[in-house]
Amino acid sequence: MVKIRVFNGPNLNLLGQREPGVYGQSSLQDIMQELEAFAESCGVELNHFQTNSEGGMVDAIQKAGEDGVDYIIINPAGYTHTSVSIRDALLAVEIPFVEVHLSAVSSREPFRQVTYFSDIAIGVISGFRGESYLLALQAILNRIEP
Ligand code: DQA
Repeated sequence: MVKIRVFNGPNLNLLGQREPGVYGQSSLQDIMQELEAFAESCGVELNHFQTNSEGGMVDAIQKAGEDGVDYIIINPAGYTHTSVSIRDALLAVEIPFVEVHLSAVSSREPFRQVTYFSDIAIGVISGFRGESYLLALQAILNRIEP
């Protein structure tokens, strides 16, 4: 069975309460539940992990390498624009990944338009609020079963 792991970075645990005009009104739990149900209906194994710390994210990505995860969906949140270490962890495990954002980062502040991930991602999905994760999963499924 194809194994997919979803990683969410800092402050995404506050979705729903945090700047709902930018990130939407759904909680992370609601978004992940919908994603898990979609994955289950498609016969793929999917689980998710959220952390507010950079080291925690690096450790979890290394663990995904040990666990034989096939694909990663990652929203590095604020670390998108700063983290060489998370980028290096993804390069080290060599797991193909989709970069996801709830907001349209390319049309926000200049510092958010810089991402340390998009050049090494399979692709980037940004701006569809919680639906961005479903679109990322669909894109991975399309690659598995063209
Ligand atoms: C975000 C965009 C980032 O710039 C921001 O720091 C986040 C969330 C998004 O999903 O739109 O925390 O990754």
